[in-house]
Amino acid sequence: MVVGAFAIELDTVVVGSGPGGYVAAIRAAQLGQKVAIIERENIGGVCLNVGCIPSKALISAGHAYHNAQAGNEVFGVKSSGVELDFKRTQEWKNNEVVNTLTSGIEMLLKKNKVEIIRGEAYFNNDKELTVMGEGDDHQLYSFNHAIIATGSTPIQIPGFKFGGRVIDSTGALNLEEVPEKLVVIGGGVIGSELGMAYSNLGSEVTILEGSPQLLPTFEKDMVKVVEKKMKERGIETQTNAMAQEAVDNGDSVTVKYEVNGEAKEITADYVLVSVGRRPNTEEIGLEGLGVKMSDRGLVEVDNQGRTSVKNIFAIGDIVPGAALAHKASYEGKIAAEAIAGEPAAVDYKVMPSVAYTDPELASYGLTEKQAKEQGLDVHSAKFPLAGNGRALSLDQKEGFVRLVATKGDEVIVGAQMVGVNASDVMAELGLAIEAGMNAEDIALTIHGHPTLSESVMDTAEAILGMPIHM
Ligand code: NAI
Repeated sequence: MVVGAFAIELDTVVVGSGPGGYVAAIRAAQLGQKVAIIERENIGGVCLNVGCIPSKALISAGHAYHNAQAGNEVFGVKSSGVELDFKRTQEWKNNEVVNTLTSGIEMLLKKNKVEIIRGEAYFNNDKELTVMGEGDDHQLYSFNHAIIATGSTPIQIPGFKFGGRVIDSTGALNLEEVPEKLVVIGGGVIGSELGMAYSNLGSEVTILEGSPQLLPTFEKDMVKVVEKKMKERGIETQTNAMAQEAVDNGDSVTVKYEVNGEAKEITADYVLVSVGRRPNTEEIGLEGLGVKMSDRGLVEVDNQGRTSVKNIFAIGDIVPGAALAHKASYEGKIAAEAIAGEPAAVDYKVMPSVAYTDPELASYGLTEKQAKEQGLDVHSAKFPLAGNGRALSLDQKEGFVRLVATKGDEVIVGAQMVGVNASDVMAELGLAIEAGMNAEDIALTIHGHPTLSESVMDTAEAILGMPIHM
């Protein structure tokens, strides 16, 4: 048993090793700090272990199974005898995807001389914290600076206590068999991604969304393309659905809900509740430190991630803004640089948002509506993927690219895409918005042929009023 009565001295301590924490720790070490990172569960946090990465693995497996099973009449591909070995799918996801990545992160931390401390951190004051390990083990650490990156947890709603057949995203990623019937409460990013994945893996899926639109953070015309595909796949969707209660029947679960005052119910093998996440800011001693928090339990920070206690920083899901891995990593780098005395500050103008639905959704910068609300004089142009040779040759012509630009000088302030590989195709727009490029810069950049990214060039030509392919 290790019981440290004397504090071990550190320059910078990072609490939480998700994509916010591990990136912050490595950058702080690169900038010459003596750094330790504290993790109570698995290195890599939610994103690598039970979030972004394993969900993408199941989504890929879903595509592979669906495509193999359905064959493709357009391509003339016929198939028979296709089977899914879901145990193998899960083994591949856990061992070859998640473990490879998390052990890679551990190696990167070690390579950068970041000490990894296992246990739960509790701040005693603004200079010292205790790490509680297994049993009675505890150790004191003193620090000059701390970066808190403790992430978030799925929200539990009344009537749907997690456990048994009521599962959160972690449970949904680790099912041992593909459910025959799955009900999803909350048709946001997690609900739509995992709902589509399980539909592709063979489940009968129903999505109950509380607001008037599925995927409410994306624009309606983009979501329509995904909804059409959901319908084709036999996924039932219900908007304005108020979930009320889950009744466990032992071998199934009945979900009671209400639509426009009308009581309804549906029975399934599992109900996935994906209605958002709440910040992990309790029980780490923040109240005692006097760190200012919002009513929603988010930590208030300045543009370097500094909290109201000047040597303590907070990043990722526990500070305002979307709960996104790339936002956490970005904030981690800024906080580490600020601690090193560099004049770093966050600038969220590009902030990508991506959903791995089928087809994918990606949004960078401002929508036309947001730009107008900010007082910008903008217009937009849309280019349909049906006009893109590569999309046609992939038999994936659904969707479009849209650019939002200021009128006159045509500076790109926003870009959206719904369509095949939107997650990757749109990256060049992140750069364009960050660099303040205009539509002509994109239109005059030679794009390889035939590529999906040519649709970005075509949209830039469209906004300039001279589209070749439209
Ligand atoms: P979300 O905020 O994206 O969606 C939650 C949905 O649940 C919303 O559509 C909301 O209207 C609905 N809802 C809320 N309460 C409800 C209720 N009582 N009954 C029915 N519907 C209700 O949150 P989600 O999907 O849980 O994801 C959590 C976070 O993780 C989000 O910030 C999301 O952006 C992020 N994430 C990002 C991914 C990506 O970047 N590809 C993938 C998965 C998650």
